[in-house]
Order: sequence, then C-alpha cells, then structure tokens
Amino acid sequence: MKLWGGRFTKPTNQLVDAYTASISFDKRLAVHDVMGSLAHVEMLKQCHILKTNEAAEIQAGLKKIAGKIAAGQVQMHAEHEDIHMNIEKLLIDEIGTVGGKLHTGRSRNDQVALDMRLYLREELLELIALLTKLQYALTNTAKEQIDTLMPGYTHLQRAQPVSFAHHLLAYVFMLQRDVERLQDSWKRVNQSPLGAGALAGTTFPIDRQLVSELLGMDGICDNSLDAVSDRDFVVEFLANGSLMIAHLSRLCEELVLWSSAEFRFIELDDEFCTGSSMMPQKKNPDVAELIRGKSGRVYGNLMGMLTTLKGLPLAYNKDMQEDKEGMFDTADTLNGALSLLAPMIATMTVNKERMQQAIRDDFSNATDLADYLVAKGLPFRKAHAVVGQIVLYCIQENVFILDLPLDVLQGFSSLIAADIYQALTSTAVVNARNVPGGTATNRIQVQLEKVDQLLAASACWLKEKEARITSIKEGALS
Ligand code: ARG
Repeated sequence: MKLWGGRFTKPTNQLVDAYTASISFDKRLAVHDVMGSLAHVEMLKQCHILKTNEAAEIQAGLKKIAGKIAAGQVQMHAEHEDIHMNIEKLLIDEIGTVGGKLHTGRSRNDQVALDMRLYLREELLELIALLTKLQYALTNTAKEQIDTLMPGYTHLQRAQPVSFAHHLLAYVFMLQRDVERLQDSWKRVNQSPLGAGALAGTTFPIDRQLVSELLGMDGICDNSLDAVSDRDFVVEFLANGSLMIAHLSRLCEELVLWSSAEFRFIELDDEFCTGSSMMPQKKNPDVAELIRGKSGRVYGNLMGMLTTLKGLPLAYNKDMQEDKEGMFDTADTLNGALSLLAPMIATMTVNKERMQQAIRDDFSNATDLADYLVAKGLPFRKAHAVVGQIVLYCIQENVFILDLPLDVLQGFSSLIAADIYQALTSTAVVNARNVPGGTATNRIQVQLEKVDQLLAASACWLKEKEARITSIKEGALS
C-alpha cells in the first residue's frame, strides 16, 4: 500500500508508477533528505510536537538509514516514487509505526525544495573551488609568459600584438565573474522553505527559524506559496552555468585553434589528447572539443527549466519534478569540464618562438605607425590613410613595414624619422599600451596583483562556507 493510499480503491497502474517516479534520479538527494529530516525532527521535539523519546528513535533510525545508503546496502523502489517516500518507508520498516510521525507538519513539497537547496549549496562550493583551480592554472601560466608576445586578433585577423599572459588573464577575469555570480546566488539558495507545508503553512506550532539555523541556512523563505512553487534558484544556477560554459567553450575553441598545425602556438599534453582509429599521425584535442560541445546541453537545461516553469499556476505542480535532472546534469558537466581544463592548461607547452614569429610576419604594428604620426601632429584620420598606403605598398612589394628603408617611408610622410624602427618592434608596441587594463608589462603586473587578491578572497569565502557545511553535516549525522 502507498504511503498516500488511503483514499484510493485500487493500486496505481504500473505504467503510472514508472512514469511518475523520480527515484532513479532524486536518489542523489538522499543525504540531504536525511539531514533535512533530522533537523525537522529536532525542531518538532524542541517545539514539544514530538516526545523526546519519539524524536530520539526517529533520529537514530534516520542515521542508521543514512549509513546503510552510504554503504550501498539499500534498495530504492519506483513504487515508492521518490527519495522522500523511499526514506520514510525505510524508516517505518526500521523503527516501526513511530516512524510515521516524521512527516508531521511537513509536505513533500517543502521537503523537496529544501533538499534541492541543500544539494545545490554544496555543489556551488565544489564548482567555485574548481573554478578557482582553473584560475590558478591560467594565472601561473600567465606569470611564466609575460614576455611571450603573440598576435591579438579581431575578426580572427591579426590586429595588434599582446602578451600571452594578457590573453590568459582575460579568461581569469571572466572566470572571476563566474565565481562571483555563484557566490552571490548562494544567499538566495541558502534559504529554508521548510514549514511551508504543501502550500499554505502548517497548523502545528513549528519553529521555522530553528530548522534554518540547525541546517546552517541564512534564513527562511517569507511566503509559503513562493517557497514551494518557485525554482528560480535552479534557473539562476542553470543561467550562471550557461555563462560559465560559454567562457570555457571559448577557451577550448582557442586551445583547439592554437594546437592546429596552422597556428602551433601551443601543444597539449599527450595525457589530454586522443588519437585516430584510422590516421596514425593524428593527435586530437578531443577534451577541448567536447567541453565546447557540451555547452549545448547546458544551455538546453536552462531552456528546459524556464519552459517547464512558464505559465505554471501556484503553487506546486508535478511539472516541477522536471527540475532535477537538468540541475544535476549541468553541475556534472561543469564539474567534468573544470576538472579537466585546469590540468590541461597547467601541462600545455607554449610555443613562444612560433608566436613571436607570427607577429614578426604581419602588420600588427600598423596602428603604432599611425599613432607615431599623430604624436608628431598629424590628425589621426590622415595618419590612418598614410599608413594604409604604406601597408598597401608593402603587400604589393611582399615586405613588412620594418623592412622598408627610411627614405621609402619618408616618401609617404616626411614626419617619419629613424626612431620609427625602434617604436615598431613588437616589444615597444606592446609596452606602449600602457593604460590600466592594457597589455604593457607593468599593467599585466597590476592585473596579476589584483588576481592574487581575488583568489585569496575566494579561498577565504570558500573556507568559511565549507567549514559551516562540514560541521552541520558531521554534527547531524554523527
Ligand atoms: N518527487 C516530487 C518532486 O520532485 C516530490 C514532491 C511531490 N509532491 C507532490 N505533491 N506530489 O517534485
């Protein structure tokens, strides 16, 4: 008989059981479900809704079940639909009818919302830790590559030279915003919906604040209907995850490009590449490609959740059971991508010579020649036209600007003097971009100092939250 079977005259159709069950995926919430139940029972006891001995029996039973689940000794059943009813059933089997008191003043609607929040707050910490590791890998490589100059691109056409460190740091700052978005979402995730009941609250004199404190949460959801019916914290996570994988995908695209024979700017370590079943010479950047490709499923999860929520009347609807798989999938996908990218970056070989050669053989110093003329009084638009003529001449003659003798250059503008040859070297060109955020060496040093501070702050933030969660978990389950 179902836990809710009282008003039914016959068993559910087996197809219905199979179709409506969520246990195959929400079993991942087992430990969070038990933690939520332990806090709920403790509160029921302190509010004299349960007797001390009843609460103790239930708490001991729940801990035993948590132990069995962790040891893989428990079979979950689709006929009990979801993790909440499976655990309640296990509890009643374990300790008898007193187990039936667990669900006093609670509904699966507030219970599932709580479980998801408890799960997600841990996942946020894990992802922030992984993001930080990737930031470290990029930053360490940047520190070694300040003097490595490469072509900077717009339209994938060589534009102006930049330091490779500058390029890598661009990703560090993108990832920093990803970290900050996840950190900011934490306070909205870490609110307790428990006590909202099915939708309207409960008739028992419960203490919602106490449950929230026992679980190390930052407060309670203010409106019971909102508490059980919104999943905006899931949408927010999926959106933040989408932006994150967009950033990772762009980095991966560059790794793929840079490791092609056409670029040869980097070589990925053998450990992170695969071969071809047919072509013996191949070394493919599969991991980077796959991360790039997996952005599709992460965006899909966001669209799926938004669409599921759209137009749902308040409060809980079964549609909302569709909130979990996308959330798990996005968390797992990001986890996998970040875990691989950090060591891939740390172990890649940077082909400095090849990058330098690329900027020797191009016109990426053309802007600097124009700026040189401007410094000598020519309006920029005129200078642009003069340099355009010089570039055209070079292309026709199959040479680069620095190959032109002074008298030829002076034929285009009498303002050009011998100091131009120094001004147009790639080192001079890069270091001339001496504005905050620019690619000049001293400006990169400023960025590196800022990154060190940001990473230290993230580590501090993480440490406090991790300590909080660990002590709550260990305290509850011990
Ligand atoms: N498995 C359900 C879910 O994930 C739990 C909530 C069920 N509530 C209900 N009233 N049927 O959404």
